[in-house]
Amino acid sequence: RRKHRERLLELLERTAAFYVRFLWESTEAAPARQYLVDRGLDEAILREFRVGYSPSAWDKVLMASRKGGFSNRDLYDAGLAQKAKGEGRIYDRFRGRIMFPLADIRGRVLGFGARALRDNQQPKYLNTSENDIFHKGRQLFAADLARAHAARAGEVIVAEGYTDVIALHQAGLRNTVATMGTAMTPEQVGELTRLAPRALLALDADAAGQEAMIRAAKVARGKKLELRVVELPPGRDPADLAAEAGAAEIRRLVEASVPFVKFRVQRALATGDLATAEGKDAVLGELRPVFAEIPASVLREELVSDVADRLDIAETLAAQLLGRGGTAP
Ligand code: GTP
Ligand code: MN
Ligand code: MN
Ligand code: MN
Ligand code: MN
Repeated sequence: RRKHRERLLELLERTAAFYVRFLWESTEAAPARQYLVDRGLDEAILREFRVGYSPSAWDKVLMASRKGGFSNRDLYDAGLAQKAKGEGRIYDRFRGRIMFPLADIRGRVLGFGARALRDNQQPKYLNTSENDIFHKGRQLFAADLARAHAARAGEVIVAEGYTDVIALHQAGLRNTVATMGTAMTPEQVGELTRLAPRALLALDADAAGQEAMIRAAKVARGKKLELRVVELPPGRDPADLAAEAGAAEIRRLVEASVPFVKFRVQRALATGDLATAEGKDAVLGELRPVFAEIPASVLREELVSDVADRLDIAETLAAQLLGRGGTAP
């Protein structure tokens, strides 16, 4: 069993190298190279992340692996091949896609995230399915590359997507990781706490990303992880912003991160109905559990004051309706 696992890891490693060669050396991958250039990603950073391209043919990885002495079973178990329903023939799972190797903290390739070249191609991302080697809920993308930098900085930046992580590393923010396109899991929070005592959430500035930050905070509750939020312009993600506004701007926004509770209060105020008494009461109800966890502090007073201002009520009333805070640490 152990030997089988080592074999699969070897196959995954070789396949990652195969995709990298195919990206940089094949004529077929010219549009993929252009796509990556257009997204503002340099060859140096792409090579560091071992980004590759899978041939559009049905059997290129299959053939190369057989030549290397690997069996059909190895290909299945590594998540690289699949079988058509009813038929016996197996074929490459990843075809005509940009390949992002998903490595563990030691840098061993366990699977792949694969992006379609065109935005109308579905699904946009195809990942390795859960198997005995790859468990997406347990890994953080780029944990291997970010680890030493996160330890040194005392903080880890958490983005949503592979391209966000690569763009942030290219911008010099080398302590960046991502969840694997899922909601943050308790295991991933555990991984984060091993990387650094503080996490800066830089998820997409769309409804899904903002909700994901609130859920992440719930998962991280009670864990030794200080959470801050990187606020991006509406609708953008870190990769978009790095491409549009440049590395200096993205670094400035990361530098200007705010405590999670401040983001949480602003979010409630931005999404609530502040025009009616019922709407204001609903916002206060939403914020009570949030304030219950904020110890007496200058920050707490500022947030109470913000709420009072925005709801157009007296500060003493806001403080009373928001309830008592947690105990100071
Ligand atoms: P780009 O369009 O390449 O910039 O991707 P993105 O990272 O901005 O994607 P998005 O914000 O839509 O999603 C964030 C992450 O969720 C991606 O990096 C993927 O890991 C995952 N994801 C997005 N779309 C899909 C999908 O269609 N299928 C799967 N399995 N995962 C997806
Ligand atoms: Mn398993
Ligand atoms: Mn998103
Ligand atoms: Mn995105
Ligand atoms: Mn994006």
